[in-house]
Formats: sequence, C-alpha cells, structure tokens
Amino acid sequence: MTEHLERTFVALKPDAVQRGITGQIIHRLERSGMRLAAIKMLTADDELLKKHYSEHVDKDFYKGLKEFMQEGPVIAMVWEGVNAVENVRKLVGETAPKEAMPGTIRGDFAHMSFKHADAKGKAVKNLIHASGELNEAMEEIALWFDEKEIEDYSRSDIYHVR
Ligand code: CDP
Ligand code: MG
Repeated sequence: MTEHLERTFVALKPDAVQRGITGQIIHRLERSGMRLAAIKMLTADDELLKKHYSEHVDKDFYKGLKEFMQEGPVIAMVWEGVNAVENVRKLVGETAPKEAMPGTIRGDFAHMSFKHADAKGKAVKNLIHASGELNEAMEEIALWFDEKEIEDYSRSDIYHVR
C-alpha cells in the first residue's frame, strides 16, 4: 500500500455493545476520514482470546480480562488510513479511562482506574481495543478476519481526507 496507508484491527468490547454506544464510537472513527474495510459481530471463544491477548495470558489480570471479553459479543473491525495504527490509538486514548484525555473514546465514555479495577478483581472496562503496532495489526487482522471478508472500495471523500 502507498502513501503510508495501513490497516489496523479494532474491536468494540462487550461493554460498548451492552451500553449501546457502538454507533457513537464508530462515528468517531468514520468522521476522521479513515475507511472501514471490514466489520462483524461475534462472541470471542477461549482460543481466539488467548491468541489475541498472547502477551497477557500469563498476567494476573488475564482471568478478569477473559471474563470481561466474554460477557457478550464484540464488534470486530478493520480500519484503513494513513498511519492508521497510530491514528486510531490516538482517538482511543490511554488504557485506563481515568488517564485517558477528554476527547478520546476511553476518556469521554468511561472513567475507570487500574486501582479500582484491581481492588474489585475485575478488568479495566475500556470499551475498545486497537492494535498497538503495525506488526501486531497485521497479526490481529489475520487472526480475526479471512482475507475475503475485507472489502476494497473507495470513500467518495478520499480526495479531501488523505
Ligand atoms: O488495550 P491496550 O493496548 O491499551 O492495553 P494492554 O496493556 O494491551 O491491555 C489489554 C487490556 O487488558 C486493556 O485494554 C484492559 O482492558 C485490560 N487490562 C486490565 O484489565 N488490567 C490491567 N492491569 C491491564 C490491562
Ligand atoms: Mg495492547
């Protein structure tokens, strides 16, 4: 892909689906001019989650994270744009909503801290996952989607947004 075009993996977590704010979150990604290339709703099974969070499987918070991520379905997506990995993380904000800046998805729609989550023995419910690095994005897209599920179309505003 040219022009620093990248694809990144995004998942709206079960709290976003259950709170009925998926549209508002997708709107924020969409209005940035990035292109939605794939989308589906599914409940993640043990194996998929283990692979997705392979770097966290052995950590203390994994049990709570697994419970959280399997509370209900997630909405898995692929977004494409110029430096999409970094740009989506910027819109998402810091991991703990308490630290996430106003204007970010986690900062505007949640307020949970690590301390509070740990004291309750629960995961930090922070609405959304987004790949942290380009190589992570490529692995995660391949894990969650078949190549044929990724659509290749052009947004009509492409001339203005990249
Ligand atoms: O999602 P992000 O890349 O910002 O953070 P991470 O460090 O890769 O952690 C993955 C997810 O695990 C977070 O988004 C939280 O939902 C959860 N987590 C947690 O519940 N408690 C922690 N101490 C750290 C992470
Ligand atoms: Mg991460």
